[in-house]
Amino acid sequence: MKIGVPKEIKPQENRIGLTPESVKTLVSEGHEVIVENDAGFEAGFDNEQYTNVGAKIANTASDIFNDAEIIVKVKEPQKVEVDMIRENQIVYTYLHLAAAKELTEGLIKSKSINIAYETVTDDNGRLPLLAPMSAVAGRMSVQAGAHCLEKNQKGRGLLLGGAPGVDGGTVVILGGGVVGENAAIIATGMQAKVHIVDKSEARLKQLVEMFGDKIIPEQSDKIDLNKLVSEADLLVGGVLIPGAEAPKLVTREMIKLMKRGSVIVDVAIDQGGCVETSKPTTHGDPTYIVDDVVHYCVANMPGGVPRTSTLALNNATLPFLVKLANKGYKKALSEDKNFLAGLNVHKGDITYKAVAEVFGHNYVAPEEAIKK
Ligand SMILES: NC(=O)c1ccc[n+]([C@@H]2O[C@H](COP(=O)([O-])OP(=O)(O)OC[C@H]3O[C@@H](n4cnc5c(N)ncnc54)[C@H](O)[C@@H]3O)[C@@H](O)[C@H]2O)c1
Repeated sequence: MKIGVPKEIKPQENRIGLTPESVKTLVSEGHEVIVENDAGFEAGFDNEQYTNVGAKIANTASDIFNDAEIIVKVKEPQKVEVDMIRENQIVYTYLHLAAAKELTEGLIKSKSINIAYETVTDDNGRLPLLAPMSAVAGRMSVQAGAHCLEKNQKGRGLLLGGAPGVDGGTVVILGGGVVGENAAIIATGMQAKVHIVDKSEARLKQLVEMFGDKIIPEQSDKIDLNKLVSEADLLVGGVLIPGAEAPKLVTREMIKLMKRGSVIVDVAIDQGGCVETSKPTTHGDPTYIVDDVVHYCVANMPGGVPRTSTLALNNATLPFLVKLANKGYKKALSEDKNFLAGLNVHKGDITYKAVAEVFGHNYVAPEEAIKK
């Protein structure tokens, strides 16, 4: 099959759909890969690395959309891209359609086949193509938080890892899922004192098995959150209730209890945030202060480390793409219910229930849609 990789055009998006290593795999399977000129440049992959493994370089995005049977991207198609998508073309990328009416309508009109990374499942009902970005954001949360604790960033002037004879800082992680676990990997590695709060006893048990006595597990319905928040030098927000807005675990009143110059990194900001005073910020201007507490609430944290994020994303997306290209979408999707769960819009039909419901649109089950 012909697989096309356009340059991402959403502002501040520097990831790319395929790494040279992924292209190499696809070419070795007999596929043709076309990459837009300099599409990987900001992620540290230049044209030569792609041509060395057999890719062709196209000058413009329209060359790619005109030629490829499968388009591989990172971010949801932007308006100019939607206008270039052709009938029967397969689009494999993050879509987040429930929050994007115009995009959904555009994809319906295009009669293309759209597979969303974020709704592909695994056998445990988790979202394996979303998890790598939570892992990146979780690890980055402690790095960003540690930086914000520096005096120049209006922080407490505290080194999270301490110094010989000087204790490190206290990190309180709200939510012990993928973000929380990865935040804990970095925070414990930095020698900080780490509390992880989760509502699930079973999940806390797993975390204790992983980290031993390097973390202090805290079950959310049994703790004094006011006290814990007041002790935090760095508070990381990583709770998630799937499909819903994040619960506001930390109220405005609790912020007043925090130490001057302490830091909140609210990773859950893309679901509204789990701190009442959080509002979305950007990599260009990532922080603001409320009641002497530094808030870092960047909604697309993985975009700040496009090289690592592209590599992590490809580890998860490539195995599905290889199946898609080798077998064709009908066979690949009908043989794998987890991959089928990724089908959101198929030749004019909405095939993902939650998206159809949000827009009051007719829903066609994906297994029925692909029989057409
Ligand atoms: N800002 C970014 O760039 C970025 C990047 C990736 C992920 N995220 C967001 O980070 C958040 C966390 O993602 P994740 O992949 O770790 O989710 P996850 O489902 O793996 O983990 C969420 C955890 O929160 C816990 N939880 C839910 N409600 C709770 C409550 N009331 N009290 C205590 N614990 C509670 C759950 O038990 C679960 O362990 C999501 O909102 C996700 O969208 C943001």
